[in-house]
Amino acid sequence: METKRLRDQGTERPRDRETMIEKIRQLVAEVEAFAAVTPEQVEEFRVKLFGKKGDITLLFEQFKEVAPQEKRVIGQELNVLKNLAFNKIKDIQEQLKKNVKADTNLDLSLPGDPVQLGSRHPVSLARNQIIDIFNRLGFVISTGPEIEDDWHVFSALNFPPEHPARDMQDTFFIERDPDILLRTHTSSVQVRVMEKQKPPIRTISPGRVFRNEAISARSHCIFHQVEGLYIDRNVSFADLKQTLLFFAKEMFGPDTQIRLRPSFFPFTEPSAEMDVSCTICGGKGCALCKHTGWLEILGCGMVDPNVLENVGIDSQEYTGFAFGMGIERIALLKYGIKDIRLLFENDVRFLRQFSSAL
Ligand code: PHE
Repeated sequence: METKRLRDQGTERPRDRETMIEKIRQLVAEVEAFAAVTPEQVEEFRVKLFGKKGDITLLFEQFKEVAPQEKRVIGQELNVLKNLAFNKIKDIQEQLKKNVKADTNLDLSLPGDPVQLGSRHPVSLARNQIIDIFNRLGFVISTGPEIEDDWHVFSALNFPPEHPARDMQDTFFIERDPDILLRTHTSSVQVRVMEKQKPPIRTISPGRVFRNEAISARSHCIFHQVEGLYIDRNVSFADLKQTLLFFAKEMFGPDTQIRLRPSFFPFTEPSAEMDVSCTICGGKGCALCKHTGWLEILGCGMVDPNVLENVGIDSQEYTGFAFGMGIERIALLKYGIKDIRLLFENDVRFLRQFSSAL
């Protein structure tokens, strides 16, 4: 006993200490580098370290013999090694277990999970198509604010001060005197374009508009329009007719015919409403066209000289035509939808029916 203690305190201690630390560090490196592909390899490694005669087990045995003043340093290193090895083995075991599970459950013949494709809203479909047709004729898109002033929605467009469209019954006002309101048509955008740009002007303005109307199967208080404007030298009513005929054939099919009926708008003179031959019966008469053979789709006319003068365009030099249509109405006719409210409810059973349309 006496001899042992003496020896422990003597020359052998530093060598023991160094070899222990060296051994610990060597094992740390070994653990860090360890990799396994099979559970057996992991088990073998575990036994090598933690088994009865395992490296770490033996180091702990040896640790009991370490002199008290060395215990702190060696103990710390030993614990680091133990935790590192323990965690590494546990991680690899879990990883291998997972792999085994994935492997056994893998059935390559299973059909794939279906990916639900969304569909475009019918109003977007109709709008995109309208835009595309007019783009091909050289019309560029212009946009403007939904909250407008009286000038851009009414006054510049030649609406007399007492015109009923200015009434609370038609227009949503945000403020009065001076009036701030929700635009009732996108002609307001065209006023903004004409104020900024010199002719030639060839533009369409798609956008959302607001009218204080009771909601029914045929009308809604929020809807969408595409309005068009063409101003240049020598633009005539014949240009308007040809442009709209081209549009109607592109939109509803090559056999489509158009008919213009005289009408009135404060900003066009002369003005007309345009019908297309019924998209269902082709003109023979059916329930959709109320047995007339015709469906009304838009308003149009030659830009009133007063409008041109209001925005600083010389009405002696330039003439122009304008037209405007409700996108919902076009979508209802094109897709045979009976109630405009369906377009606003966002019922997916309804919307899914358009998933194959582009
Ligand atoms: N702005 C009109 C409307 O909202 C449509 C229209 C535009 C009519 C251009 C004629 C010319 O009803």
